[in-house]
Amino acid sequence: MKILVLGSGAREHAIITALAREEPRHEIVAAPGNAGIAEDAAVVHLDPNNAGVVATYALEENVDLVVIGPEAPLVAGVADALRTRGIPVFGPGKRAAALEGSKAFAKRIMQAAGVPTGSATRAASQAEVSEALDTYGAPYVVKADGLAAGKGVIVTGDRNAAVAHADFYLQQGTVLVEEYLAGQEVSLFFLSDGNTVLPLSPAQDYKLLLDEDRGPNTGGMGAYSPLPWLPDGFVQEVLSTIAEPTVRQLANEQTPFVGLLYCGLILTERGVRVIEFNARFGDPETQVVLPRLTTPLSGLLLAAATGSLAGHDWPEFSDDVAVTVVLASEGYPEAPLTGRVITGLDSASAVEGVTIAHAATATTAAHSGAVIATGGRVLSVVARGAHFAEARERAYAAMGKIFLEGGQYRTDIAARVVS
Ligand code: AMP
Ligand code: GLY
Repeated sequence: MKILVLGSGAREHAIITALAREEPRHEIVAAPGNAGIAEDAAVVHLDPNNAGVVATYALEENVDLVVIGPEAPLVAGVADALRTRGIPVFGPGKRAAALEGSKAFAKRIMQAAGVPTGSATRAASQAEVSEALDTYGAPYVVKADGLAAGKGVIVTGDRNAAVAHADFYLQQGTVLVEEYLAGQEVSLFFLSDGNTVLPLSPAQDYKLLLDEDRGPNTGGMGAYSPLPWLPDGFVQEVLSTIAEPTVRQLANEQTPFVGLLYCGLILTERGVRVIEFNARFGDPETQVVLPRLTTPLSGLLLAAATGSLAGHDWPEFSDDVAVTVVLASEGYPEAPLTGRVITGLDSASAVEGVTIAHAATATTAAHSGAVIATGGRVLSVVARGAHFAEARERAYAAMGKIFLEGGQYRTDIAARVVS
């Protein structure tokens, strides 16, 4: 197959790595990719958010399948443009992608589908925010009602901080004030063809910048999979009480969801609750889910894209475990310093069980072909092992060989599952 993957993060590198290990080989093209992706796929420099440009390229180059990695092209309607032209695409259209792009839309769908989630109040003014904060009490949860790259949410015991956060996002639109949910978080991905839904293996993401869950919210600083502490039947329960009703509701509203339904869940004392939906693979969770997938990924993505998941078995996974640790630039998430050289990548990937998924990396002539950091989350070190102690040891051994001035990473990823 000729497969075009849109995006340039470690998630897209992990998707490409999974596609590239299949036999017979695929022809894989990434747009725009990064320095690591360029070693595993052809890269083309087209704007992944420009629907017309992507559709024209896919038609002219006879692409068999387009896989959309990030949320921006989905919200920009790139999947719609491809689908209209008859090109198989893994990723929902603009209207279904609002499940991620609009928290208010997601809450409405959940309500209509009877999906368990926390209570939330939409507020358009400071007075409404203030009233809702007092209704729910501390800890306070305030969210921007649009895409905010992981920065739109505050969870705080400090009422003034919650008010200030709400004031900032009220300048751009409405905000949601939510009931605080306490418990372990789970990211569970589902492949959907618009009707049939199949689960992947659960993962846990570490969203805060610093060890022991301190510091600001980020896009995700590490992850591990599977989750040995989940109750039996958890995946089946989420499939039948959350993923299937959501996909059915969207289908009933003529906004079929074709692509990856990312369920961000909290396991509360009163049962599982949805905190958010995303309309695409999670980053960094994908880096620990896909390496363990033993069912060929291309077949699953194409079946989802062409409405033929019915009758497929659940995707299968190997028995080992995976841990990923994200390396971020100095200043991330507020103001990452970029342009610095990264060294030690070859010795890091030589560590047994380790691969490097590149994110914000590029090679530059100015540094005679060296790899430099071009953004906040620079790369993910991914390690597999027979158990979590082994995978962690490998991940941190590899991270120890990489040098990036001012680079930051958490040292406690998956520590809680090492007994
Ligand atoms: P979101 O962007 O909605 O995924 O929120 C980012 C993070 O904020 C989540 O991963 C949770 O850790 C936290 N969070 C969001 N909503 C809630 C909530 N209602 N209760 C507790 N924590 C939350
Ligand atoms: N890891 C969180 C996300 O992908 O949204």
